[in-house]
Amino acid sequence: MAKILFNHVYKRYGKFKEVAVNDFNLQVEDGEFLVFVGPSGCGKSTTLRMLAGLEDISDGEIYIGDALVNDYSPKERDISMVFQNYALYPNLTVYENIAFGLRLRKLPKHEIDLSVKRAARVLEIDNFLDRKPRELSGGQRQRVALGRAIVRKPQAFLYDEPLSNLDARLRVQMRAEIISLHRKMEVTSIYVTHDQVEAMTMGDRVVVMNKGVIQQVDTPELVYNRPNNIFVANFIGNPPMNFIPGKLLEDGEDVDFHTNRFALRLTDKHAAQLRKHQLVGKTVILGIRAEHMSFESYELEQHSRSLITGVLEFGEFVGSDRYYHLEIGMDSLLIARAHTRYQFNNGMKVSVALDMEKALFYHRDTEILLTD
Ligand SMILES: Nc1ncnc2c1ncn2[C@@H]1O[C@H](COP(=O)(O)OP(=O)(O)O)[C@@H](O)[C@H]1O
Ligand SMILES: [Mg+2]
Repeated sequence: MAKILFNHVYKRYGKFKEVAVNDFNLQVEDGEFLVFVGPSGCGKSTTLRMLAGLEDISDGEIYIGDALVNDYSPKERDISMVFQNYALYPNLTVYENIAFGLRLRKLPKHEIDLSVKRAARVLEIDNFLDRKPRELSGGQRQRVALGRAIVRKPQAFLYDEPLSNLDARLRVQMRAEIISLHRKMEVTSIYVTHDQVEAMTMGDRVVVMNKGVIQQVDTPELVYNRPNNIFVANFIGNPPMNFIPGKLLEDGEDVDFHTNRFALRLTDKHAAQLRKHQLVGKTVILGIRAEHMSFESYELEQHSRSLITGVLEFGEFVGSDRYYHLEIGMDSLLIARAHTRYQFNNGMKVSVALDMEKALFYHRDTEILLTD
């Protein structure tokens, strides 16, 4: 077990030295479960593979514990990795599949036996040890692949989209199993996924990446509630955050956010923060999540200065709630969550009251968060 440190790490591929990972700086705490999330091609696998020693580092340093491992072989790094395409040996039993790496390391037989059985017990596959992979379900096979990784206690576990090939139900179950396994073993872990739900549900902290650059490193709560920039706000959460461009204008002591259709009164705190940025009189982007709006009539009355009226384009029923898509001018749609007791028809004019304390304001050009 160990902490892991990336210090100004770069990866440039090929003749044209295209930057796949750009100035990556991160400390992973000892025993932490950290998730890398981002769209396909953003450099997640490359970063993980550089840590594992499967890919050269173009620039920078990687430490595992106190050791600078840039020149260590994968084996010397003492890391276990689980991939999406877990290849089990078809002719070997479950037991032999799990034992394989330990045999390569020439461990004594009784030690191998103890380790395999312990791993199998943790993963609840101890009844299948004599079976061949083809006699197992997809989930059981994935557990054998995990067993091969956890059979020993390495410095760190690395997971590269290990659940992508499983169906939705099994994925949810395996997610929980990997986390409960982590609680038992407490080995520093990095888990890569392009699925923001997986990232939010599993990570102690989440690292959001885009185009080889870290966008934000935070707890799932902070990544969701305080996205550092518009990319993160768009990527995390379903539906994504709503963004509305508008101009900040003084109204006596107050500041209002104006579009050509409506005006919203800012909280004193937001007004003060945006004044400090000298953005009053300028255009900014307001971000608001679908659940931070209300259709309740008493809310509409109480918050007469934070109303948006739009034309209902359509509603999406998701069981517990309904998401209404409102046309609010400037070719913009606003997605608002409503309790299913609300029934609006397409084409209706409806109003929502925004919870302005929950609103976030982003810079129009840099797309960076301006308020908190
Ligand atoms: N072996 C390689 N040679 C050249 N380019 C590569 C290689 N592997 C990955 N890349 C490029 O590096 C970028 C990051 O890839 P990758 O780390 O696999 O992304 P992710 O795992 O986030 O989907 C992509 O643009 C990809 O095309
Ligand atoms: Mg990948």
